[in-house]
Amino acid sequence: MIEYADVIVDLQYGDTGKGKVALALADDYDVCLRYNGGGNAGHTVYHNGQKVVLHQIPVGILKGKISIIGPGCVIEVSSLYDEVVALRKMGVDVDNLLRVDYRAHLVLKKHLEEDAKDTKIGTTKKGIGPAYRDKYERTGIRALSAVSAEGDFLPTIDVLDYWFDEEKSYKVLCEGAQGYQLDIDFGQYPYVTSSHCITGSVCLNGIPPQKIRKVYGILKAYTTYVGSKDFEPDDEDLRKLREVGGEFGATTGRPRKCNWLNLQEVIPAAQVNGVTDFIINKLDVFEQVGIYKVYDKHGVLQTYNSISHFRWFVADSLRDGMENEVNVVWSSSPNGI
Ligand code: IMP
Ligand code: MG
Repeated sequence: MIEYADVIVDLQYGDTGKGKVALALADDYDVCLRYNGGGNAGHTVYHNGQKVVLHQIPVGILKGKISIIGPGCVIEVSSLYDEVVALRKMGVDVDNLLRVDYRAHLVLKKHLEEDAKDTKIGTTKKGIGPAYRDKYERTGIRALSAVSAEGDFLPTIDVLDYWFDEEKSYKVLCEGAQGYQLDIDFGQYPYVTSSHCITGSVCLNGIPPQKIRKVYGILKAYTTYVGSKDFEPDDEDLRKLREVGGEFGATTGRPRKCNWLNLQEVIPAAQVNGVTDFIINKLDVFEQVGIYKVYDKHGVLQTYNSISHFRWFVADSLRDGMENEVNVVWSSSPNGI
């Protein structure tokens, strides 16, 4: 049974620090679930003084939690195996903790080859679009039959055996990948990924909607995007944000395009996701650059003369934009995530 499920969801274009939040919260849960995407994600965390980048495995595994890759995900077996090996080296008991739902689809070599040719969207080249296309075309291959070159290291499970276990009760932390603006339906199509990146996606992994308790909406004090569309205005301060914030892709190393925080985009994202708690990351980076700009809910660029005015305006606009009571938490990190 599920006692409750809490959700970590990205309100921007990915790369907002979901991994950091997941690692900080994971202690309080029994199971961590990745509910969408695949190797396109790059969740960077600092654990025991070490930088760790996970792509397909929920970061809760670093806290010894059962970590499930859910039915909404796609898996590339050989890179998953690399992640497994790296975690084993760190002393993580991956074999007893990692579980893959048999319904998750495989990213095959042909998908990687096809995605390698993309020039239009600026994908991560991890085969995501072609793999999800085949799933919906009903010609995909499910994880059930995954055998890697290293042998059959991928025993699969059925998530329903956890969600509806009559003996045990689980608190579940659901860790999303990408973000609202990359969601296949709500993002700026076609400059999106091929999975569902919103809270609703959690239910597509077999979790009943009534079990969802908290929704942590994650954002940064500014905006970044990686991909082909125009995004970054010509502005020296934004280039500085990229440098100070280390805004280069964890998966591809590409420079992330930067812009100011956009409340006209974030508020609808929070509404659709049913956010109960906002976590705004990288305040330290924003403060270092020292220019306090934000697009208000009408899309008009506002400039504030102090960080406290900026914070007050943002928190107030977010609270004002929501029907329900929300918490707003600001976060900084010495590691810049
Ligand atoms: P795909 O998911 O590799 O097909 O890429 C589609 C779009 O989503 C591209 O603009 C990618 O840069 C972006 N994208 C995919 N995954 C992530 C992520 O984890 N963080 C940031 N951008 C991502
Ligand atoms: Mg990332």
